[in-house]
Amino acid sequence: MVRFFGALVGMGFIAALLWSFGWGVNAQLTETHTQSVEHRFHQEPRDVAFSTDGPFGKFDRAQLQRGFQVYKEVCAACHSLGQVAFRNLADLGYEEPEIKAIAAQWQIEVPSINPDTGEATTRKAIASDHFPSPYANEVAARAGNNNALPPDLSLIVKAREGGAPYIYSLLTGYQNAPADLPAEARPGQGLHYNPYFANLNIAMPPPLTADGQVTYADGTNPTRENMAKDVAAFLTWTAEPNLESRHRTGLAVLIFLLIATILAYMAYQNIWHGGADRRVRQTGPLDPENQAKSRAAKKEAGIKG
Ligand code: HEC
Repeated sequence: MVRFFGALVGMGFIAALLWSFGWGVNAQLTETHTQSVEHRFHQEPRDVAFSTDGPFGKFDRAQLQRGFQVYKEVCAACHSLGQVAFRNLADLGYEEPEIKAIAAQWQIEVPSINPDTGEATTRKAIASDHFPSPYANEVAARAGNNNALPPDLSLIVKAREGGAPYIYSLLTGYQNAPADLPAEARPGQGLHYNPYFANLNIAMPPPLTADGQVTYADGTNPTRENMAKDVAAFLTWTAEPNLESRHRTGLAVLIFLLIATILAYMAYQNIWHGGADRRVRQTGPLDPENQAKSRAAKKEAGIKG
């Protein structure tokens, strides 16, 4: 009886599943698919190679220094880099006196307190300070940017799908809105059309507007493409300064696992391989023949038991 009811309930479940599957197929076939405007016009990041790509990727120190220069001369006017301290620039190959000079000459001062009066003030940055925000707080930041908040850039490469190629594409992707863009998706007041940005219209005015906006000391041609690529590489470093040691550790672990696998296989060959017939030959202490031998030996040695 229980079996019968069990089967009945099971069939009920199957019937319900088939029913909903049927409706799903019906909806798939009959309903029209509407694609959102964002979906239609949005573009995936462009293909661009970085020296950090792949399991053996390394930073290109000269490129990082150029990217830092772009950040310093262009992006720092609106974006903070709160997770990075001036002294971390040593990673890029700067010497201590250079870092001290960079901190002391930074355009934006860091918040401080006047030791005599106890009042809030600002002071020149020192090497242990983090890159300061150009705005006192979020309200001030929004007020200066058409109510949009320029995000801290320290981790932006990790925070956005597409990583460094996305930053590069975003910076070089400003263009006129296409003619067939529906009215509701056209950039409003203070917004700029950029098909790489998730909702197509970004509040950041194009930061890299002309070739030669910065002057590179190493003779690299400061085209918009190069500046965008360099600053994207620099932001890859700020987001993951230990990328190189992670790659090295990963490689060491793989080599170790390879050796361990070879050892394990050799041990298997040595100890277990062909175990079935060896077990027949090497009979244990429970074997009657062995027991008899052991008894005889004990008797000979005069041991009881
Ligand atoms: C005039 C101020 C200003 C400057 C200069 C500026 N930005 Fe921005 N940036 C903004 C604002 C405002 C936003 C927020 C945009 C939004 O949410 O629509 C933003 C957003 C961003 C974003 C986030 C985009 C996203 O996916 O959310 C990135 C990345 C970025 N900026 C990179 C840069 C880089 C790199 C530079 C320097 C080359 C730079 N910005 C220079 C104002 C600025």
